[in-house]
Amino acid sequence: MTDTTPRLPLASSTGAKKRLFLRSWGCQMNVYDSGRMADVLAPLGYAPVDAPEGADMVILNTCHIREKATEKLFSELGRLRLLKEEREAGGGEMVLAVAGCVAQAEGAEIVARAPYVDIVLGPQSYHKLPEMVARAGRAAGAVIETEFPVEEKFDHLPDAAAPQGVTAFLTIQEGCDKFCSFCVVPYTRGSEYSRPAAAVLAEARRMVAQGTRELSLLGQNVNAYHGEGPDGSEWGLARLLYALAEIPGLDRLRYTTSHPRDMDEALIAAHRDIPAVMPFLHLPVQSGSDRVLEAMNRGHTAEHYLRLVDRLREARPDLALSTDIIAGHPGEKEEDHEATMALIRRVGFASAFSFKYSVRPGTPAAGAPFRVDEATKDRRLQEVQALLRDQQAEFNASKAGQTVPILFTGLGRRPGQLSGRTPWLQPVHAMGDSSLVGRIAPVRILAGHPYSLHGEIEPETQQEKNAA
Ligand code: SAH
Ligand code: SF4
Ligand code: F3S
Repeated sequence: MTDTTPRLPLASSTGAKKRLFLRSWGCQMNVYDSGRMADVLAPLGYAPVDAPEGADMVILNTCHIREKATEKLFSELGRLRLLKEEREAGGGEMVLAVAGCVAQAEGAEIVARAPYVDIVLGPQSYHKLPEMVARAGRAAGAVIETEFPVEEKFDHLPDAAAPQGVTAFLTIQEGCDKFCSFCVVPYTRGSEYSRPAAAVLAEARRMVAQGTRELSLLGQNVNAYHGEGPDGSEWGLARLLYALAEIPGLDRLRYTTSHPRDMDEALIAAHRDIPAVMPFLHLPVQSGSDRVLEAMNRGHTAEHYLRLVDRLREARPDLALSTDIIAGHPGEKEEDHEATMALIRRVGFASAFSFKYSVRPGTPAAGAPFRVDEATKDRRLQEVQALLRDQQAEFNASKAGQTVPILFTGLGRRPGQLSGRTPWLQPVHAMGDSSLVGRIAPVRILAGHPYSLHGEIEPETQQEKNAA
């Protein structure tokens, strides 16, 4: 599980009484959810701290996408158990909660193997957290909620309360009905649900009023969004993007993760017509072989994906693409792997995530014959990653010498340095005045490194700032 713990305003700066330590793994939706859990607990006096030592409550927000997640969780729980016992011996308390997709999938096992856990709650139950904390205080065993009423969650969760930062996530859709052969998400997040457009717009406006300049709309299948519009009609993602782009001060829009099957004409046109929609799209392809794509139940061919890429680039010539690749899905032969390599070469990705196929019990691929052996999976993954790394380095290097609008998101590690990102999501460092944080300024890119860019703010911008 990748640690994706969000930065939350800490208790020390808010003077709250109870300390909440939240740790998050997995996708960006978990980051967003962790923020909402902190919001929902704030009225009870809990405020985030950055270490579990001395915390009154610890929440582990887990991810189940690949194997070993459960074992990692249990070793983390083992460590926390000692802290909890220490704290209780001293007359204090530490409420221990497991949330997220492992909680959803393995709730019963968690309770059986770690009986000291107080609360187990699946992703659709976060609005019930305050009530569960109260019940946990009275109950002898663990309090468990792993139901699936997605709408109810969004109706009852408060919108983002604390300022979210210059760049922020906003969940607009959750769940998935696609059932790819390898994937647990339809089982852990439930079926597709789209939030009403009015709720999304209101939350976005509040975030912008608190300083957010760039919004990433989130959904496991974000481009399958079909929320109720303010007029009662159904809105697709394109329609929502047009409406969001009208919010003054909301300079940049992104959305993730998209499925190639849901990339419709209106959405492609939105990339052409809405300047705020950034020229960067994460569009997972998983494999370049039609045979494997079919075994994966992806519902599209390699040709369909390539045509889609052409249409997107026609609409927005500077569009950069990112993708997800799985190496070694059951049944993948050498020629299938070669087809994946060929597709990657054809598209030329600006960045990508690639994974070794991981068996997920309960998914269709878990029972499939013709497993690929570990050594072959490793080798194929290495080949895929080497190619993707080269493409990313090449894409970053291609920006050297260009002047690019950079949204500054915060201070860099070195004194006087700022960090920001390009329209293509590349991290950039440049020396500059801290008052530029939250603003977009033209930066001349001096060097494109494999994972980031280094640049110089155009002198006029600095002078303007100094004169102001
Ligand atoms: N909803 C998104 C992605 C969800 S999971 C989509 O449809 O693309 C993120 C990525 O994890 C997937 O794109 C896939 O590449 C990878 N993944 C999911 N299940 C996996 C498994 N069992 N083994 C290896 N990688 C997996
Ligand atoms: Fe998983 Fe496929 Fe749904 Fe993505 S589209 S979440 S990979 S089942
Ligand atoms: Fe992981 Fe659940 Fe997200 S399995 S990737 S946290 S939807």
